Amino acid sequence: MEKRSSFSGKIGFVLAAAGSAVGLGNIWRFPYLAAKYGGGIFLLVYIILALTFGYALMTAEIALGRKTGLSAIGAFKSLNKKFSFVGWLAALVPVIILPYYSVIGGWVMKYLYAFVTGGGTSAAADGYFGGFISAAGEPVLWFAIFLGITALVVLFGVEKGIEKVSKIMMPVLVVLSIGIAIYSLTMPGAMDGLKYYILPDFTRLDASTPLEYAQILGKTALAAMGQMFYSMSLAMGIMITYGSYMKKDVNLESSVKNIEIFDTGIAFLAGLMIIPAVFSFSGGTPEALGAGPSLMFITLPKVFETMMGGQIIGAAFFVLVLFAALTSSISLFETVLSFVCDKTKIGRKMACLIVFVGSLLVGLLSCFGYSIWDSVLVFGYQFLDFFDFISNSVLMPIVAFLTCVFVGYVIKPKAITDEVELSGKSKRRGVFTVMIKYVAPIFIVLILISSLFISL
Ligand code: PHE
Repeated sequence: MEKRSSFSGKIGFVLAAAGSAVGLGNIWRFPYLAAKYGGGIFLLVYIILALTFGYALMTAEIALGRKTGLSAIGAFKSLNKKFSFVGWLAALVPVIILPYYSVIGGWVMKYLYAFVTGGGTSAAADGYFGGFISAAGEPVLWFAIFLGITALVVLFGVEKGIEKVSKIMMPVLVVLSIGIAIYSLTMPGAMDGLKYYILPDFTRLDASTPLEYAQILGKTALAAMGQMFYSMSLAMGIMITYGSYMKKDVNLESSVKNIEIFDTGIAFLAGLMIIPAVFSFSGGTPEALGAGPSLMFITLPKVFETMMGGQIIGAAFFVLVLFAALTSSISLFETVLSFVCDKTKIGRKMACLIVFVGSLLVGLLSCFGYSIWDSVLVFGYQFLDFFDFISNSVLMPIVAFLTCVFVGYVIKPKAITDEVELSGKSKRRGVFTVMIKYVAPIFIVLILISSLFISL
C-alpha cells in the first residue's frame, strides 16, 4: 500500500484542520443563526455543545482516522464491517454541502467585485441583495466561477499554495474583524445589540407554557448543534481523513483544543461585527434579526458605508472571507473527489470534471430557488435552505449519533483514549468516556425529539 503522506507536525495539522473548519460557516452562517435564535441563548447553547459534544466528537473522529490510517468509509469498515454504512452516510454530507456552499461563495465574489469596482455604496442600498439573488443569470455566473476556481485548485494540486496564502490571510482576517467589530460597537444603538448577543435573556422567548419553552429551546439547540458540526467540519468524515494524515507523536488532545478555540473565536467575532450593527440600523426588529442567509450581505455593506475608507475596508474584508471560503470548499471538493476516485475506476481528471458538473447542476437548484423557482418549496423550504437543513439538521446528527454509538459501545472508548494517549497523557480520559457514551447521544436524541415537536 502507498504510504500516506502526513502533516509535518502539530502546527501543520492544526492549521490545515482549521483551514477546513474556518469558513463561511463561521462568518456567514453563525451570525445569522445567533441573530435568529435569541442571541445570547444561542451563544450559550453553542458554547456548551462545543465544549462537551464537539470536543468529544472531534477527538473521536481524528483518533479514528489516525488509528486506522484510512478515511471515513475505510475507517469504519476496518474496525467493524457492519458499521461501514456510517462512513457512507458521512460521505454523503459533503456531496450535499459543496453545491450550495459554492453558491454562497459566489455571493461573496459578487460583493468583492462590487467593492473593488467602487460599487460599495450601491451594495449598501436597501434591496440590493434581493435584486441580486432574484436575477436568473448573475448569481449562476458567480457560483460557477467560485466552483470552477475550487475545481482548478484541486485539479492542479495547488492547495499547498492556497494554504500558504491563507496562513497569512487568516491572522489578517482576525485583526480586521476585531477592528470592524470595535467599529460596529461604537455605532448608535449597538450596545443593545451587544446585550442581545452575549446575555441570554429567556424573557425574550416567545413562549408561555413549558411545552412552548421546550419547543423553542429544542429548535435553538438543534440549530446550534447543526451549526457546530458544520462549523467544525464534523460528522462528515473530514476530520477522520485529516486524522489519517496526522503523525502519531503529535498531541491530539491539545490539537483539538486549538482547533476549537480558533473556530469558535472567529464565529464569535463575526457575530460581534454583525449583530450590534443590525440593532444600529434597524433597532433589532424580529424581521431584521430573522433575515437568515442574507444577513451578512445586507448588514456589512451598510457598516462599511458609514466608515471612513469603507470601500477599501469592504474590499479587503471580502477578499479575506473569500480565502477562508476557498480553503473550506477545497476540502469539501477534495473529499467528494476522493470518494468518487476510491469507489470507481475513473481517473482523477475525469472525476474532477464529474464532481464539478454534478455540483454545478445541483447548485443551480439553490440559485434558482431565489429567482425563477422561488415559488417552489421543498417541505416548506427554499432549495438552499432545504439542502442546508437536510445536511445539518438531519444527516449530521444521525452520523454523529452513530459515531457515538460506534465508539461508545462497539469499539469502546478505550480504543480512542489509547490512541489519544500515544502522544501524551490525557487529562480528559474519564470525561471523554462519559461524553461519548452518555452525554452526546442523549443530547442528540433529546434535541431531535424536542425539535420534532415543533412541526407537530
Ligand atoms: N467548516 C466549514 C465552514 O465553517 C464548512 C465545511 C464543512 C468545510 C465541511 C469543509 C467540510 O465554513
